[in-house]
Amino acid sequence: MKSKVAESLGIELPIFAFSHCRDVIAAVTNAGGMGVLGAAWMTPEELDMSIEWLENEVNGKPFGVDLVFPGTGGDEKSPEEYLASIPAEYLSFVQHMLDDGGLSDLTPEDRDEYMAENARKMAMTNKKSRDQLDVTLARPSVSLIVGALGLTPDWVVKDAHARNVQVGALVGTGRHAAKQVEAGVDVLVAQGTEAGGSVGDVASMVLWPQVVEAAAGVPVLAAGGISRGSQILAALSMGCQGVWLGSLWLGTAESELSLEAREKLFAASSDDAVLANVMTGKQGRMLRTKYVETWRASDSPAPLTWPMQSILNGYSYKRAERAKDLDYWTYAVGQVVGDMKGHTTVKREIERMLNEYGDALEQLLEVTDLG
Ligand SMILES: Cc1cc2nc3c(=O)[nH]c(=O)nc-3n(C[C@H](O)[C@H](O)[C@H](O)COP(=O)(O)O)c2cc1C
Repeated sequence: MKSKVAESLGIELPIFAFSHCRDVIAAVTNAGGMGVLGAAWMTPEELDMSIEWLENEVNGKPFGVDLVFPGTGGDEKSPEEYLASIPAEYLSFVQHMLDDGGLSDLTPEDRDEYMAENARKMAMTNKKSRDQLDVTLARPSVSLIVGALGLTPDWVVKDAHARNVQVGALVGTGRHAAKQVEAGVDVLVAQGTEAGGSVGDVASMVLWPQVVEAAAGVPVLAAGGISRGSQILAALSMGCQGVWLGSLWLGTAESELSLEAREKLFAASSDDAVLANVMTGKQGRMLRTKYVETWRASDSPAPLTWPMQSILNGYSYKRAERAKDLDYWTYAVGQVVGDMKGHTTVKREIERMLNEYGDALEQLLEVTDLG
């Protein structure tokens, strides 16, 4: 399975893996694909340490970093200001929900500490993005920087290109793809609504060819709903040059999730990966749990906007974690959760998909051989 985008990035397989977990990034990169570390919530110091750790693990192979670029100028608040703008009734709504669920509370000191810590992580500012970019570009091992949300600012493209680093961007419509191409990105990730995390409304089957068309020659990676080799073949046949997967890695031994959380995913069906704005305030796909359902009930308040909703969740997730109650937690996951059925590893998943890809290609030739 060769592709031009893989060749230009110096990797063997056009399989890209988004993960917040550096063990997944190392395993995918070592298997010949490219891991792209989700680093938006990291401080520049944490990011620098993670890149250094990865460099030691992957023996000179290139990998990527995924950041959030909030845009130029505008509404920038400090973490403390974001924290202070969470209305008291929202905290009390969450407290009552968890009290009703029988989860023991944190001390007020612990609660304030976790929310303040979360505010520092979640408050995205141009300064933080700038510092993260500088840290990343100072490392020669990173060959791809991807922006998760919004139009890529020109300073990102300029600085990355000056270091021979390619720039990618996630898009959910053909219109956004055209704008990102104008902004100068080198790679587009066309992410269908089936995906885990922040998503749009267009399904992969419709989106991928639309983005390929709008990309006007800029390589496109297909994302959203891929967990099988046959889907990789379908994506390549629609003009994509590679695939970008996020959810599948959550079920691997390398993932950031606990054994219990992984088992909760293995028990889920595809229709348990629901759309809601409960996690971040933006529309995203996540595991349906009591926490999600309670927020979505008609008598609940509308979730806050980003990043206040994420900061508020810092408190409730900590409480759920302490109580070991995964019903009052949720996690971003896509519809492929219905295909994730048991403990596995990154290497095993890549081998499985490569075998399936070969089988699917053979089957395609058989089916289309009208001779
Ligand atoms: C747990 C999780 C967290 C995610 N967080 C981000 C993120 O911070 N930045 C980003 O660009 N994409 C994020 N995504 C989306 C992935 O980059 C990717 O586009 C998506 O997972 C692909 O679809 P799939 O989930 O069907 O594989 C996340 C996905 C998951 C599952």
